[in-house]
Amino acid sequence: MKILVTGGLGFIGSHTAVELQNEGYEVVIIDNCSNSSTDVLKGITAITGKTPIFEQFDLRDKLKVQDFFERHSDIAGVIHFAASKAVGESVEKPLLYYENNISVLVYILQELQKKEKTSFIFSSSCTVYGQADELPITENAPVKPAESPYGNTKQIGEEIIRDTCKVQPNLNAIALRYFNPIGAHPSAAIGELPIGVPQNLVPFITQTAIGLREQLSVFGDDYPTDDGTCIRDYIHVVDLAKAHVVALQRLIGAKNKTNFETFNVGTGTGSSVLEVINSFEKVAEQKLNYKIVSRRAGDIIAAYANTDKANNELGWKAKSSLDDALASAWKWEQKVRN
Ligand code: WQD
Repeated sequence: MKILVTGGLGFIGSHTAVELQNEGYEVVIIDNCSNSSTDVLKGITAITGKTPIFEQFDLRDKLKVQDFFERHSDIAGVIHFAASKAVGESVEKPLLYYENNISVLVYILQELQKKEKTSFIFSSSCTVYGQADELPITENAPVKPAESPYGNTKQIGEEIIRDTCKVQPNLNAIALRYFNPIGAHPSAAIGELPIGVPQNLVPFITQTAIGLREQLSVFGDDYPTDDGTCIRDYIHVVDLAKAHVVALQRLIGAKNKTNFETFNVGTGTGSSVLEVINSFEKVAEQKLNYKIVSRRAGDIIAAYANTDKANNELGWKAKSSLDDALASAWKWEQKVRN
């Protein structure tokens, strides 16, 4: 069974391609390599022994999207990762985000409209909740006004899919709302490859530890949390990848039309920035050079998932601990730099 993974050379996409191949699916990747490299194909092959079909083009080219689906009429499912995802950049370049994250979604859904039956998994984010009123966060928590164009594209994307599923009997879809994906495949053949200065905490930690960055800045320790630093739900990227396969299988196996569903994909446990640093120092057996600086604009205080729905309805649960995830991130960083 052939599954399209858009953005499949990216961090989460590549790990999902591996898990799909492990489950016996034939994987087709479309990626424009704007934020990834074809070296990732070698990494995927090194892990599974199978090289995905790969086509490099920009999904903003509607004619190329149409041509692709005409040539690959046997696509049974789509996992759509391809999107721009830097919160800060989205504030600077909103139209880039609305074109890349919304127009592309519409082009793909328009192609799926023509097919007999397709299963569609959308890469969404806990960012749709903003600062939730209650923790842990359930899928019924209200979607708050987006704090960035990036977050808005995830909210709008979910609404576009919801509206389309209502009138398209041949389309079953699920949105997975990721919390904070971290780590790398245990083989260290694939991992996170941030371009330029990492915006996210864990790649900045590993790059500091390996000597690529001078010092980690901790953005504020005056938040109303136990140790004053922000709390997030850090989930191992392999656990996250497996959630995509399980969600896809639920749709492919559905005998009848399913309602559009959203699922929180996290560990259910919150960890503060200082807890992440302490965990890293333990697994890497070295001290990390960091300093406390002022808060970063736009950061929410705390977010961690109530994972009951994914556990009970998908039969999926994150297995890796924070230590495991950080150890895999550190192993990957050492591999990439040496
Ligand atoms: C985590 C914590 C920072 C860097 C973002 C996006 C979200 C999703 C995941 C795409 C925060 C602190 C960070 C640093 C720090 N991306 N931090 N020093 O902001 O929770 O989520 O990435 O889907 O949409 O918003 O992740 O890793 O940037 O920050 O102190 O150098 O680490 O303040 O408290 P975030 P993050």
